Amino acid sequence: RVLVTAGGTREPLDPVRYITNHSSGKQGHAVAQAALDAGAKVILVTAAHTLPEPIGAKVHHVDTAEQMRDVVLDYAVNLDVLVMAAAVADFRPAHVSDQKIKKQANSHEAMSLELSRNPDILLSVKTAREASGAPKVVVGFAAESENLLENAQGKLERKGADLLVANDISAPDAGFNVDTNRVTLLSQGAEPEALDLQSKVRVAEVIVERVARLLQGALS
Ligand code: PMT
Repeated sequence: RVLVTAGGTREPLDPVRYITNHSSGKQGHAVAQAALDAGAKVILVTAAHTLPEPIGAKVHHVDTAEQMRDVVLDYAVNLDVLVMAAAVADFRPAHVSDQKIKKQANSHEAMSLELSRNPDILLSVKTAREASGAPKVVVGFAAESENLLENAQGKLERKGADLLVANDISAPDAGFNVDTNRVTLLSQGAEPEALDLQSKVRVAEVIVERVARLLQGALS
């Protein structure tokens, strides 16, 4: 049983506006498809809105980080594998207006926006895992624009992932929305492994192959 998250969360400000990011969901949907192809039971929790649903997956559509957290934690104790490929907003607007926010007529005053901290889903899973032992394998991603290895290594340790997939999202041919990705795989006690630029589909297959090995290790 594999749960994959994908896409960029949408954090509402009012009925018209939300804060989001550039994630298209392609990498996460590719991982879900690769897991299906490998014979897994797949649950896909996606914030993407334009991608086809992988046939055979149980798909949950979410918008906010909190909605995504709730679905992931509902499944967590019964999962073999969690792959957090989603771009989850760390902050959301502190106040959501029921009505469209109007600017003051004839005013040029600036407007400030208070942001509240969103839950860190991987950290919540880490806590749940310490109590239940599930998921058996957790894969995190790291979207970095600088100091890729240093930042990714920190997330590997802090977020309790068994495998961390780091990608430099400042590169035009990798990261958000493009069909290719250039990732470095980090895992505890192993040297970082930089993969060449390749399709997100192939990256997804490599991730699933590594997960299968980690799962065998967890089960032995
Ligand atoms: O969707 P695409 O357009 O195909 O782009 C793919 C991608 C760039 C989105 C993907 O490859 C990727 O890097 N996903 C992770 C993006 C992200 O949120 O990285 P981060 O470094 O901010 O977060 C680190 C990890 O913690 C991620 O596994 C993330 O899912 C998770 N997280 C982050 C914030 C939060 N509040 N809770 C989390 O669990």
